[in-house]
Amino acid sequence: MARKKRYRKEPIDAGRMAVSQKRIFQFRKEVLVWYAANQRNLPWRKTNDPYSILISEVMLQQTQVDRVIPYYLKFIKKYPSLDALAGAQKKAILRLWSGLGFNSRAVRLKQLAAIISKSGGKLPMEEKKLRELPGIGNYTANAILAFAYNKKAPVIDTNIRRALIHRLRLPESISQQGLSRIAMRCIPENRSRIWHNALMDYGALEMTAKKTGIKPVSKQGKFKSSERQVRGQIVKILLKNPGKKPGKKPGISINALKKKFPGHVVLPIVRKMSGDGLVSIKGGRIFLG
Ligand code: ADE
Repeated sequence: MARKKRYRKEPIDAGRMAVSQKRIFQFRKEVLVWYAANQRNLPWRKTNDPYSILISEVMLQQTQVDRVIPYYLKFIKKYPSLDALAGAQKKAILRLWSGLGFNSRAVRLKQLAAIISKSGGKLPMEEKKLRELPGIGNYTANAILAFAYNKKAPVIDTNIRRALIHRLRLPESISQQGLSRIAMRCIPENRSRIWHNALMDYGALEMTAKKTGIKPVSKQGKFKSSERQVRGQIVKILLKNPGKKPGKKPGISINALKKKFPGHVVLPIVRKMSGDGLVSIKGGRIFLG
């Protein structure tokens, strides 16, 4: 009997798929008309300052808009520039960040600020150079290029992905590269900033997951999410005990931490936090920074 030929399942490259220019123009119009009537009033939209855009985009990487707003405002007030952030104490930055989650984002921002303030003080305008900086991946680099410099760079967050797939009738299995190529064609000349603001709101408010039935590409697993909670709680414990009170040792012993989190293997978590620059370990105790 002849063997059935097996084909490897490959993501569809929509760069090669036909989306007509006419459809792209229609889509632009639909999004911009909708935005004129429905835009959100968000604090990072009131500025083109690359530093402020960087802070907002890093905060928004894994956190919802409503939760980010008060943290963004406090952060920019306390650290209004890269130089101010570079000169700040890690503990103080973490105190401000604590509660927002994914605290290593704050550590990477401080590392980034140190690098930039040593070398001229300005964030680069090229994708390649931006991506060499700590904490900046493809998404954040493109967001800075579009929102700060109005450059034609495709910004694709989960909301924009849904809007593109749903309205341009693309398959959910489309590759990242294919989607980027189509997203690039959608950006109106010299209007990248407003286009992406509009598309983000359209995706978040109008093309919801419920309405479109489109699932996000990846969701954090249960294990990762509980590990993240432990990390957040450890930072909170350490912020409460910097050791300034007489007779109180700074930090916390590993044994005490083990007792606080009986269901978790604490040591590898703490080691990872140390690798991320969040804590240091010395003589069986851990310390912030
Ligand atoms: N999510 C990520 N970046 C955003 C932005 N600039 N505005 C609204 N939501 C966002």
